[in-house]
Amino acid sequence: MIQNLTEAAMTARANAYAPYSNFFVGAALRCESGKVYTGCNVENASYSMGICAERNAVFQAVAAGEKKFRTLSIVGGKTDEEALSLPCIPCGACLQVLSEFCSGDFPILLADGIHKLSDFLPNSFKL
Ligand code: THU
Repeated sequence: MIQNLTEAAMTARANAYAPYSNFFVGAALRCESGKVYTGCNVENASYSMGICAERNAVFQAVAAGEKKFRTLSIVGGKTDEEALSLPCIPCGACLQVLSEFCSGDFPILLADGIHKLSDFLPNSFKL
């Protein structure tokens, strides 16, 4: 199950568009429905217009009507070897977006093992 989710993240990573950083990221989000939504980073010549893989995956899921998430797998790196061996910790913006839908114990699978959302973001902005 965990293996499959990371494979899905690697498949999404293959579509990453990262000609500026050459850092290719893939994310796969399993929802309570059992469905998996994926995302990759998509960069832009106007640098700040790019989007991270994780937010791309979350937005795909929400656009499909899903808001209850079970697990997220993230792989990132300049090479496949790097992506499968070095943890790609989600950026602060992606953590804030995840915190909108997930509690602190939400599992995040990285190359070095299972973490939880609160490991990276112990508190988040709430209105
Ligand atoms: N990136 C992600 O996709 N996810 C993260 O959590 C961190 C960074 C992307 C953004 C940019 O396209 C590239 O990695 C280098 O920063």
